[in-house]
Amino acid sequence: MPSIAAIILAAGKGTRMKSDLPKVMHLVAGRPLLDYPLTLIQQLKIPATTLVVAKDHAPIRAFLKNRAVNGTQLAIQDPPLGTGHAVMSAFKKRSPKAKHYLILSGDVPLVSRETIQKLIAAHQAKNAALTLVTASLDSPGAYGRVVRAPSGQVTGIVEMRDASPQEAEIKEINLAIYLIEAEFLKSSLTLLTPNNSQKEYYLTDLVRLAAAQGRTIETIFAAHPYEGMGVNNRKEILQMEKMIMAERLASYSEAGVRFVNPDGIYIDAEVTIGAGTVVYGPNYLLGKTKIGADCVIKAYCYIEDSSVAEKALIGPFAHLRPGSEIGPEAKIGNFVEIKKSKIGAGSKVNHLSYIGDAVIGKKVNVGAGTITCNYDGVNKFKTVLEDGVFVGSDTQFVAPVRVGKGAYIGAGSTITKNVKPGSLALTRTEQKEIRNWKRKK
Ligand code: UD1
Ligand code: CA
Repeated sequence: MPSIAAIILAAGKGTRMKSDLPKVMHLVAGRPLLDYPLTLIQQLKIPATTLVVAKDHAPIRAFLKNRAVNGTQLAIQDPPLGTGHAVMSAFKKRSPKAKHYLILSGDVPLVSRETIQKLIAAHQAKNAALTLVTASLDSPGAYGRVVRAPSGQVTGIVEMRDASPQEAEIKEINLAIYLIEAEFLKSSLTLLTPNNSQKEYYLTDLVRLAAAQGRTIETIFAAHPYEGMGVNNRKEILQMEKMIMAERLASYSEAGVRFVNPDGIYIDAEVTIGAGTVVYGPNYLLGKTKIGADCVIKAYCYIEDSSVAEKALIGPFAHLRPGSEIGPEAKIGNFVEIKKSKIGAGSKVNHLSYIGDAVIGKKVNVGAGTITCNYDGVNKFKTVLEDGVFVGSDTQFVAPVRVGKGAYIGAGSTITKNVKPGSLALTRTEQKEIRNWKRKK
């Protein structure tokens, strides 16, 4: 492979998002937009990347701290004067030396690795100065149109707002994904002028310049037309997520997962689900959640950064907060909240409970309405229920507290002290009964 460095354009103002957050930090199917091109670059093992960002880039910098990609540097474009100007800004930085530059837009997340590989192959095969990815759309919207001579040769790209009525009819659009030969790129950037309706330096004008210089321009079609979908406003995120979710559910289905009422199911990118599991919608599976094989996740659960082992049953209406580890064949029922707790194999927390900072052993039965009082307003404390414990309904555990193996807790108890294995603990006051009592008149 020829030496390729990447440039990601991410400095656009994103005014149509109606948000202070940089556009590339908006989430699409659980990942910031910027995460998509970064992932591509990692998959393609491109060694050096310049990320062009605007002046207000603190959220991007913070994101990159936890999302290290080797050889990434930031270049600041201030003020943003167009996509061509963004690439000029990348070269103001001590830019990585390369024979070709792969230019990606931070707001076109669905481009596949397959398409980029095709782009690289075509560029090499034709020894092109510039190769671009295009797609053919029935409704090409506001995308830049690819203008071709009668011979089929590309002569330029015209932005919708600058297009003549005939050009507006063109269905072939520019995805804003390019591979450009270094010499041509650097020499042509200096020739760009802001002679257009937006008074911006358009990167797309390089295509016209290449044509005028008789340089070779290659095009390839995106593997799927939807790869060209850009995100310019929240409505487009909505449409895109619907599509990503449908694809994601299809790929889990192929791996043996069954979905019921899939329209209401939202699953983040890094979630794993084992074969034979059934997920009922609506449901949210978020973050790095892992669901084992043959589980049942009933409707209306909200599961975040948690693990659920095989054959467990969750919900309906269960909330697993980060750090919950549910063991095999365990049952977490309705209106139960679990936080940062381990629930052992075959244990049950079936009704109306809050379990936080707890370690619950195997085959423990936690009765309805059990609450771990884990927080004294300052610190969090741990509750431990060893294997085989039976907890009667409406029990509070005032942590820190430990209940030994096989112990019983009587219903309605407030447990403040450790309980020895095999004991029965209860804190109930004795029931009084006044015979033949009548209300005084
Ligand atoms: C651009 C293309 C258009 C193409 C479309 C595909 C141009 C002139 N037009 O239009 O042909 O069909 O993408 O989605 O290139 N950016 C900067 N600095 C700037 C301006 C933009 O970094 O000064 C970044 C943006 O953050 C964004 C990308 O470049 O990630 C594209 O910019 P945007 O303004 O969204 O261009 P489009 O109008 O979508
Ligand atoms: Ca765009």
